[in-house]
Amino acid sequence: LLTQQDFAGETVLITAGPTREELDPVRYISNHSSGKMGYALARAAVQRGARVMLISGPTCLEPPSGVELVAVESARQMYAAVMARVPECSVVIKAAAVADYRPLVRAEGKIKKQGDLLTIELAKNPDILAGLGQLQQRPLLVGFAAETADLQVNAAAKLAAKNLDMIVANDVSQEGAGFNVSTNIARLLFRDCRVEPFELMSKQELAELILGRVREL
Ligand code: C5P
Repeated sequence: LLTQQDFAGETVLITAGPTREELDPVRYISNHSSGKMGYALARAAVQRGARVMLISGPTCLEPPSGVELVAVESARQMYAAVMARVPECSVVIKAAAVADYRPLVRAEGKIKKQGDLLTIELAKNPDILAGLGQLQQRPLLVGFAAETADLQVNAAAKLAAKNLDMIVANDVSQEGAGFNVSTNIARLLFRDCRVEPFELMSKQELAELILGRVREL
């Protein structure tokens, strides 16, 4: 009741968590994303009055009350879930750590132990955010860039290549930033080349900050 409803009337789509790319019925390729950043954004957006669709890969988190949760596993499932809902959305925030590649072939049965070397061929997954950036009627787009080197240069290149309005860059090699922790150290980059660096803060605080900038845009 005490939160300003500055997202009333907006539909915000948020992706969160990792994706899983199956090798066979018992194994997959994934990453260390916990989903905490995306879930924090979803919680903040609901509290500020938005209708929130949270498209999430597998996480251990409780979805915030009031969000519409769509559970997915693979990047291709996430792609389909996002594209089906984007016409209803005014804002898309892509906090998910989508696998860039998937096994080219998913084996029908469990892959048996063989010689000392095993080669797995990978095929590129569709880039969901880049796809959104090319839409005729595109919503306001916010991406994330998790980097271990040349943070600002890489993030700026992604902002341009994916046609985004804003990108949240974090150096995941820094302590207290990135995967699987409740804090983050981020810098925000905008289309007009503005850069806003921030100190360490909780993911919930960062979520509020990001939504504040989205509101301004
Ligand atoms: O290129 P990179 O994966 O580092 O870009 C990160 C941003 O792009 C994140 O916002 C992520 O959710 C999004 N992304 C995507 N689809 C992919 C890969 C990344 O939407 N296949």
